[in-house]
Amino acid sequence: MNTDQYSQLSQTVQRGQHGKLRHLITLDGLTSDEINSLLDLAQFYVRKPNELPARDNSLAGRTVANLFFEPSTRTRVSFELAAQRLGADVVNLDMQTSSRVKGETVLDTIYTLQAMHADVLVMRDSEPGLPAQVAPHVASHVSILNAGEAHVSHPTQGLLDVLTIRQHKPDLNNTSILIVGDLMHSRVARSTWSALKTLGIGEVRIAGPEHFLPPANEFPDAIRFTDVNKAIRNVDVVMALRIQKERMTSAHIPDDAAYCREFGLTVDRIKLAKPDAIVMHPAPMNRGVEITNEVADGKQSVIQQQVTNGVAIRMAVLATIVRNVEVG
Ligand code: CP
Repeated sequence: MNTDQYSQLSQTVQRGQHGKLRHLITLDGLTSDEINSLLDLAQFYVRKPNELPARDNSLAGRTVANLFFEPSTRTRVSFELAAQRLGADVVNLDMQTSSRVKGETVLDTIYTLQAMHADVLVMRDSEPGLPAQVAPHVASHVSILNAGEAHVSHPTQGLLDVLTIRQHKPDLNNTSILIVGDLMHSRVARSTWSALKTLGIGEVRIAGPEHFLPPANEFPDAIRFTDVNKAIRNVDVVMALRIQKERMTSAHIPDDAAYCREFGLTVDRIKLAKPDAIVMHPAPMNRGVEITNEVADGKQSVIQQQVTNGVAIRMAVLATIVRNVEVG
């Protein structure tokens, strides 16, 4: 299946019988009202740096299980904190020591957790289509949240990116964004682009080496560049992507220094964007490759704000999904 077919399948299975989201597997097909409602609730949960984090009891009595079959720092920890701050019990399965290494199927792992009354299963896996394949088989009280699906989809990252952009550039219709780097393997770029298009972003540019750019049928309407110095001129938002060496054959892995010279976000290159442009990166970062230390830690960087927003977004998604399941 291609990414479009995975998207269609996910859109079909993620809604309950009354059309509300009971799982979150893709941002494709969400309406602008649905996205804005998640962003507004997340903004409600955002606190100033000197304030204590937001808390409420919307998930009291619920259990959230994190099943990360691929490495993660930000997504796993922020789902855990989000669930705790909403009053849920949380379990983190250590996949290296789970029975999956003895050959247990993912579905049997899920049946085991739901038999212990886990209500929300947060999944990350390298197999495309897995969240959509398992969602139709779970009990009626269980929701599947996609925390990163191969190169296909990373919906909560897409939402936290858009929340961060909206905080700095509220007039999205008149905002331009450049996404630069390894788009071919990026689930982040696909989800962020999907939400931005639904919300009516002014202009999307994509740039990178030709073999890092996605097929022409993906990112329709995005303006494609292989020269970053042209792509970056006068944009409002610059988002660098990690080179995902784990999804490439060695022939496609570029030399770090050469890549940084040609495509990396350097101080000189950032000067070509608008003076008030913000710099984003979903992280983890390859410092000195797709972004230099000076830019990653510089005044225009909102990378740590993206991380902070990640907790708020995951609180908003958990609260919304659990409420949708309650009302049927
Ligand atoms: N951006 C992101 O998904 O980070 P982690 O891999 O650390 O979760």
